Amino acid sequence: MRFCGLSVSVVLCCQLVSALLPENSPEDATLFFEGLASKYGHPARKYDVITKDGYILTLHNLPGRSRVPVLLMHGFHATSDAWLLRGNISLAIVLANAGHDVWVANSRGNRYSRRHQHLDPDRDPAFWNYSFHEMGLYDLTATIDKVLEKTGAEKLNAIGHSQGTMLFFALGSTRPEYNAKINILIALGPVCFLNHIPPTFSAIIKLIPTWGKIMYEQNIYEAFNKPTRGIIRQLCTLPVVGYQLCFEGVIFTIVGRDSKEYSPEFAEVLFPHFPTSGSVKNILHLAQLHNRATFAQYDYGFLKNIAVYGASIPPEYDLSKVAMPVAIIVGDNDKLSTLKDVSTLRSKLPNVVDYVVSPYKQFNHLDDIWGAHMDVYLNPYIFKILEQYS
Ligand SMILES: *[C@@H]1O[C@H](CO)[C@@H](O)[C@H](O)[C@H]1NC(C)=O
Ligand SMILES: *[C@@H]1O[C@H](CO)[C@@H](O)[C@H](O)[C@H]1NC(C)=O
Repeated sequence: MRFCGLSVSVVLCCQLVSALLPENSPEDATLFFEGLASKYGHPARKYDVITKDGYILTLHNLPGRSRVPVLLMHGFHATSDAWLLRGNISLAIVLANAGHDVWVANSRGNRYSRRHQHLDPDRDPAFWNYSFHEMGLYDLTATIDKVLEKTGAEKLNAIGHSQGTMLFFALGSTRPEYNAKINILIALGPVCFLNHIPPTFSAIIKLIPTWGKIMYEQNIYEAFNKPTRGIIRQLCTLPVVGYQLCFEGVIFTIVGRDSKEYSPEFAEVLFPHFPTSGSVKNILHLAQLHNRATFAQYDYGFLKNIAVYGASIPPEYDLSKVAMPVAIIVGDNDKLSTLKDVSTLRSKLPNVVDYVVSPYKQFNHLDDIWGAHMDVYLNPYIFKILEQYS
């Protein structure tokens, strides 16, 4: 009887669990970089990259025969997975299909790069003491050097999305010798100046410094940590309301509305992969770009700025030093990387070789990485630029 009672409760328990999980969740929701890459025809290689300040990053490679490697740099709280979430039209896959040697980076702190030679991300607040500045200066330099070392190439082609482009601007201005290692940077929805964000999201950004203070008072230095991600995943993949809440409510408010390109099924694939872990400090630094209306290093406050920078305000990044050739594509409906801010960026970069406002009118901040039809309105542009500048 006891055995029977136990098996009955196991069965009931399993039924309860399966009732709570989304029905027939798509296979891609459960696969990660190597699984996705293999599924779409390109078994991946994986390398560790060690930065000057001790972080251990994962660098993925879909090997190809092209002489000039292409490096993909993800955006805010994303990972290398970001370039595979649309299956066979994902950029990493279409590039690999065309014979490109594709390298896919991961910034410090994310799912694949939450490692350090002597700091423990779960115990040492110092692990999280970084922003996009260090991702550009240390992660990107080490990653670029690793790709060039492994391939024997002198230069690489780079494609960045959103914050991923900002890393190149921080790098090119503070380590100008790296400009010579970039054959072309294709900047998808580039982010640098954030002065024209619409009022709703702008009001939220104004509150971020207060949020940061509360997090630090509670000794929380990791943003989107495991418990938070669990809640996001549960909520955002709920039938019907999950999509309403997370896409219609939050994401479209921030990046621009384009419901046609994002189905609830895509949400089921997306939220197990995004957002990933990262630092509170990076979010504070990004908020400063908007709140201080300058593209400058981290603002610690008057006294600490003097100690760190020898000046009461943080130094601005000198974009005139970003000599690498840059091709920009941006959307009319992008509420984060707005046309006004991108044209400021364009006017300050010395070597913009191509500038396109997508003819697709609804093009928002995510359509250049996750749009359902990006094979039509985006990928041909990327191939054209790569061909022209390789
Ligand atoms: C991608 O896969 C879908 C579904 O299997 C198929 O209909 C489509 O033709 C494929 N597209 C490409 C570019 O391979
Ligand atoms: C973080 O790093 C900066 C300089 O990179 C240093 O001045 C500061 O003291 C560090 N903060 C913590 C909490 O370790």
